[in-house]
Formats: sequence, C-alpha cells, structure tokens
Amino acid sequence: MKPKLLVARPIFQSVIDSLSEKFEVTSNQSDQAWTPDAWQQAIASHDAALTTGSDPINALVLGAQPRLKIAANMAVGFNNFDVPAMTTLGVIASNTPDVLTETTADFGFALIMATARRMTESEHYLRAGLWKQWRYDMFAGAEVHGSTLGILGMGRIGQAIARRGALGFGMKVFYHNRSPLDAATENECKATYVDKETLLKTADHLVLVLPYSAASHHSIGSKEIAQMKPTATLVNIARGGIVDDAALALALKNKQIAAAGLDVFEGEPAVHPDLLTLPNVVLTPHIASSTVKTRLAMAQLAADNLVSFFATGHALTPLNQVPAKSAT
Ligand code: GLV
Repeated sequence: MKPKLLVARPIFQSVIDSLSEKFEVTSNQSDQAWTPDAWQQAIASHDAALTTGSDPINALVLGAQPRLKIAANMAVGFNNFDVPAMTTLGVIASNTPDVLTETTADFGFALIMATARRMTESEHYLRAGLWKQWRYDMFAGAEVHGSTLGILGMGRIGQAIARRGALGFGMKVFYHNRSPLDAATENECKATYVDKETLLKTADHLVLVLPYSAASHHSIGSKEIAQMKPTATLVNIARGGIVDDAALALALKNKQIAAAGLDVFEGEPAVHPDLLTLPNVVLTPHIASSTVKTRLAMAQLAADNLVSFFATGHALTPLNQVPAKSAT
C-alpha cells in the first residue's frame, strides 16, 4: 500500500505526477481554501503532507496521536510549523533551504532598487497620463550605488544580498544578527557587524531578512523607525509581523522615512489599508522566490524530502529529529 500524501496547495503537475508513483496523492490543485476543520480532517487521514508557508502544522492540527509522519514545507521559512510540538508528536518537519537563496536575494535587491528609485510610483504617474514634460526633479530618489546597506538577519539570503551590495554596487554593508558571522564569511560578504541601533541609524537602505518568531515579532516598529534617517528606505522580504505595518504606514505618511518596499505583510494576503493608499511604498504579493526555475526546485526538494523519508527514514533537509517511527 502506498502511503497517503496530502498536497495542500497547487504545485507543478510534473511534481504531482512523479509523487503519484510513490504515494496515493490527494492534491488541492483547485486551490480551495481550507477551513480549520477541513484542514485538521485532511491531516488526520494522511501519512504525509506537502505544505506551503500558509498551512499550519501544530498540536491542535495534529491531535494527540497523529497519523502524519512528515510535513514537507515548500518554503525556507517555517513559522507555519510548531516544530517543538511536531517533534514531541513524532512528526518530521522539513523545509527548502539553499535552492531559493540567490533568487530571493535578487528580488530583495530589486525591491531596494525599486523603492529607492521610486519605480512603481513613477510608473503609476505615467500610466495615469500625468507625464507632460521632463523635469529636473521628477521622481528624484535616493542613490543606491555607494550608499550604506543595512541588513537585519544575516543567514544565507542576507549574505547573498550583502555580496550584491558590496561587490556589485560598491555599497558599505553593515549587518546585525543574533551572532556575528565568522571572519571568513564576513570577509567574503564584505560586511561589518554592528549593533541594531547603529544599523538603524546608519543605513541608507535597510533590508530585513530574519526569520519570524515570537522574538522577532515587530522587530521594526515606531521606536526603531524613529532612529532611521528621514531619507532611508526599508525593505521587508522576510515575513509579515517582523514589521509593525500600522506603525510603518504612519511613518511613511509622515515622511519619517522616505519609502518602503514590502513583499510580506502582517496577516497577508490582507494588507494594511493605509499602505495601499500611500505613494511611497512598493508592494508585491510574497513573490521573492518566484521564478519558474526556483519554484520548481523548491517543489522538487519538498517532494524529494518526502520520497527520501519514506525510502530511508530520513528527510534530506529536516528541521527536527524524531525518534524512529515506522515510515510505512
Ligand atoms: C518564502 O517566503 C519562503 O520562506 O520560502
């Protein structure tokens, strides 16, 4: 008997087809939204799940004696998982690191550029037919090359952004992280560790790439924004909830900082209504890793985690270790 696999959200048909050779697959290709009850029931009747960052796996969803043996997240972030609860309940968690690092860093840089150079604001102006003539100060933005890049969170994606900034754009790169990088990595990224206050005060462009947790909730709120330069820009490609979006909207309205670029939002897909009305914010719908090649690589790695676990008892990129529980 093949193990039963729940594919929670639409993914590439080619990946579903190859998973169907090893699993009895139930797949939500129609993208039907899960109610909490339907989700709990679906999890209760499957041995494995391929999830995305919006599908919660926690003690409530799993119940006391879960049938589920593994949840493979098609994302590097995993704040939708309660990993300690999964470990206690004997459920393996896996994510998709590395395959999206460079693509996500590209997008982070694109948002820095678009925000600093006011690209969406000026495009809206053009599309609205408001462009009558060239003007010396039209959409004059902030310099990117040669400016100071601040990076909060210095994992793989933060490091890839640092390399782009330092080596490609001649930026001075400062970062803050729970702990400093080793000297060799710092040197390779041409990045200097500073405390958070220095980072906030010195960055011309601040980019957030730290994981979401209770500890990083509202890492950037009104107090932090007040320490930033009035000419600074803020980019969030990490997770909603790391920024206090209401405080940011107010700061953007009051021109406390120049502009922001946001790919993630508190309570997404809902977006704070004030952000939608402000001209000085670039808004994108959580697409930082979204190239065809990278999304396919993420889906494939999530699938490979499932196949590997049922073949060998081990996922390829696990987030936890649980005492051996029969995989079949
Ligand atoms: C996307 O947000 C991811 O965590 O991969």
